[in-house]
Order: sequence, then C-alpha cells, then structure tokens
Amino acid sequence: MAKIPSFFSLKHLLVLSLALNVSLIMRVVFEDERQGPLFGFSLIKPRGSSMADTEASQRTLLATSSSSSISSSAKTSIAEVEDSGEKLVNLDHGDPTMYENYWEKIGEKTTIVIRGWDSMSYFSDLKSICWFLEPEFAKQVVRLHKIVGNAETQGRHVVVGTGSSQLYLAALFALSPKESTQPIHVVSAAPYYSSYPSMTDYQKSGLHKWAGDANNFTEMGPYIELITSPNNPDGFVRHSCVNKTGGAMIYDLAYYWPQYTPISSPADNDLSLFTVSKSTGHAGIRIGWALVKDPEVARRMTKFVELNTIGVSKDSQIRAAKILEVVADSCEQSGSSDFEQSFFEFSYHLMEKRWQQLRETVSKSGGIFSLPQFSPAFCHFHSKVLQPHPAFAWLRCKDGIEDCESFLKGHKILTRGGRHFGASSSYVRVSMLDRDDTYKMFLKRLSSIR
Ligand SMILES: Cc1ncc(COP(=O)(O)O)c(C=O)c1O
Repeated sequence: MAKIPSFFSLKHLLVLSLALNVSLIMRVVFEDERQGPLFGFSLIKPRGSSMADTEASQRTLLATSSSSSISSSAKTSIAEVEDSGEKLVNLDHGDPTMYENYWEKIGEKTTIVIRGWDSMSYFSDLKSICWFLEPEFAKQVVRLHKIVGNAETQGRHVVVGTGSSQLYLAALFALSPKESTQPIHVVSAAPYYSSYPSMTDYQKSGLHKWAGDANNFTEMGPYIELITSPNNPDGFVRHSCVNKTGGAMIYDLAYYWPQYTPISSPADNDLSLFTVSKSTGHAGIRIGWALVKDPEVARRMTKFVELNTIGVSKDSQIRAAKILEVVADSCEQSGSSDFEQSFFEFSYHLMEKRWQQLRETVSKSGGIFSLPQFSPAFCHFHSKVLQPHPAFAWLRCKDGIEDCESFLKGHKILTRGGRHFGASSSYVRVSMLDRDDTYKMFLKRLSSIR
C-alpha cells in the first residue's frame, strides 16, 4: 500500500474527500442542466419565467465556468456552449458584446481612477430629488440627449437606477395608486419584452398586476401601459394602443438610439426609461436612467430605489458618466484624429452590415424563414433617410414548423421562442448584438438549413 506522506493528517484527507464529493455533485448538476433546460426554455413557462433576459445566460455561465473561473476582465463568452462536442450558438439573450471592439479601439479615453477614499458617502446631490444621483452623470445624460436629439430633458427630473430594470419597478411603484384595494393592471402590446410579466408579478405585489396584451385590454379603471419603442422583440416603432382615459404610460426607450432606429424627434413623454446596456453596450455597469416630468413621480421612484438599494453605485455612475462623455465627444469630434468616427456611426454601420447579411441568408432559405420589413425614415442625428436595424431579429419559421425555437435548437442555434413575448411559437427572437465570431457562426448555421 502506498505510504501517505507524514504532512497529510486525517483532517487533510477528510477535507480532500469532501472537496472531491462536492465537485462530483456539481458535475452531475451541470451535466443534468445540459440535458434539460440549459439550452432552452422547455421547463420555463412564459408567464412565470423570471428575469428572462438574464436567466438563461446565468445557467449557461454556470455550465461554461465549471472548469474555469469567471473574472470581470476576462471576455466570458456565453454565446457559445459545448453540446456533445459541437458548439451551440447562443443568441437567446441580448448581451451587447458586439460593442467591445469599438471600446477597445477607443483605448484609455474611458479609463477612470477610483481611489480608496472616493465614493464613500451614501449621498451625491441633496439639491436633486434623486439625492443619490451623481451630478456628473446627470450632466452627461442631458448633454448626450441634446446631441442625439432623442429625448427632451428640459423640465425633466433625472432618476438613476441599477439598470433600467430597477427603474421599471420604481415606475410601477410610483404610478400605482397608493390607496386602492385592487392592484392596478399593467399591459403592453404583444409581442412585448419577455421580462415584463415576471418583473411585474414576481413579488405578488398588492400594488400592480400583469394583465397581458394591451390590444385585448378591456377592463375599466386605471391602468399602466408599457410602450417599448423601438420594440423588443420585433423592432417596430410603438405608440400607446389602449384608447382609454385613466392610463399612465411608461416609455421604455432602451433602443431609441441612432444605431437601431432613425431618430425622428426628441421623446417628449411623462416618463421615459433609458439604459447604458443597449445604448453604449455597457450592460455590466448596471446603470439606467429615467426622465420624469412630474416631481411627485420622480420622488416616489427615488423612494423606491432608496427602500430597495439605498441609492445606486457611485462608482458605476462615475464610470457611466465617463462613457457617455466619450460618446458625446465622439459625436462632436467625429472625423478628428481623436475620433475617426462617432460611436453611433460605428455601431450603425455594424448593425447595417449584420442586417444585410441576415436578410441575404433569409432570402436564400427557400421560404423557411422570413423577417419583418421596416419603412425607412429621416434620422435627425445622421441627417439622412435610413432603414431601422433593430437589436433583435424577429424571425418567423414557415407554416408547418410550429415551434421555431426547437427547430433552430435542433440546428444548434439558441433563440427565444415567441410564446415568451405573448406571441406565436412560429416566431423566435435572435440577438443581433453578440460578438462577430458568434454572429458569423449563426449565419453559417442558418444558411445550411434547407
Ligand atoms: C426593452 C428593454 N428594457 C429594459 C431592459 C433592461 O435593461 P437594463 O440592463 O438597463 O436593466 C432590456 C434588456 O434587454 C430591454 O430589452
């Protein structure tokens, strides 16, 4: 029998055996997920699914990270995962990694230094309704909206949130009647962003309740309508569709930026939501902002964030401010030695190229797939008539393929099926925002389907 070295005590052996057992159990769990829900939503009901845009990514991350650690600096790819030796192209979620190239080229311009004694207080600006709003962040938000022309900021209060997701919940809290015995109905026209139903209902709040497709909404009394424009998943410009009095509107304008859609006029709403996740691609910073007309609504939204997270990371706000500043500089100095092209020129051309390639591939599919057609419109930012290039492709499988998500999964392409958006399962949503290699692989797989 092999002799155990003297520095190994019984305690060491016990710890070693425990570690081996834990790693074996983890492996079994991950292997099970690979067989089951990891690569699809077969076990996730559309209405009950929680935080749908990130859930699949988390599970994929778990699976891919079982043998290597996840570091924030590493370019963790959740777009490709192994399945019996072959890589799956994962375009189920809208992770905006395609912007990495631009930011890498920009280099040190966005680097900031945060010292040990910075950002220590809870408070940022006691003069603002949103007392945790960093003034520099607010300044750059207003500056960029002015340059892009996509939102009216005059007479608006800026409320910052941990992503626009937190601000959506804050808006629900602020707009729900305080004294009512019944939760207010929350509606959005289908196909709607797949996270809205679960975000609205996951806490079983007595204040608000998801009531589904706004097109079929017939209830009496107050309601909240969510308008996502351009829309996730189908990319169309949206307006309110409930034709009743007593409604409050939340405009989710995450994609109202010049790389996705022509900027027709500054949004002039009571409550609009924006996020760096989709405008600049910095989803990991977790910063969003609301432009709110009514000070009382801004106050209640601020209260929600205070009760929820006692403010929003100052470090993240400072970083977001720097990124917005560089985007604004790139627009003002486009063509200079500092900025060959503006961020929006770069991203517009990339989206244009991707959509062109996708339309070509789809047109050669012999009618298996089809895509929405968009009307061109004048873009006040680019000063010309342009086609929309949405962040997602709302792809339809031909009649006879009832479940497009499963069909594509069979060809090693992961997408999100129509039912998650309150629509038919003959549709899927495909992210257009992933890295070049993943997107190329997607086109290759799609073109091989006959
Ligand atoms: C329409 C829409 N709103 C909000 C969000 C969430 O944004 P954030 O990352 O700022 O929470 C997303 C993310 O996919 C989205 O598509």
